[in-house]
Amino acid sequence: MDTIDWDALRAVANEAKTHAYAPYSNFPVGVAAIVDDGRIISGANVENASYGLTLCAECALVSSLHMTGGGRLVAFTCVDGHGDVLMPCGRCRQLLYEHSAPGMLLETVSGVKTIDEVIPDAFGPRHLEDYRAE
Ligand code: THU
Repeated sequence: MDTIDWDALRAVANEAKTHAYAPYSNFPVGVAAIVDDGRIISGANVENASYGLTLCAECALVSSLHMTGGGRLVAFTCVDGHGDVLMPCGRCRQLLYEHSAPGMLLETVSGVKTIDEVIPDAFGPRHLEDYRAE
């Protein structure tokens, strides 16, 4: 069912993590994803002296998605400073959902899951389209 090379994708996330700017939390995060055209993108967290303005690694990933041609995410992984799989925060699950391909897979602390499993009954673009169409 799942032919993703998670070890390779996690290696990309770990490399991305070396570019993190996390002087306040000392908690670097790296993420990587496969896009539906096969390319691989990544990101790292970038903090700010105004703590609440911190950009999670997923923000960089989503920017990279659009800056390198757009498309939909089919597989995603996230690692912490030790290289262990990290669950994306709630806001970032929403970010990922917006750009997900149907059935997008995520490597999580409790195994590979679909985007619908990690953000059930998600609010998304469809709700806005449906409302406008009424
Ligand atoms: N962080 C991410 O980059 N992504 C997540 O999904 C969880 C949290 C970052 C934000 C902050 O720089 C650090 O982890 C500690 O919260």
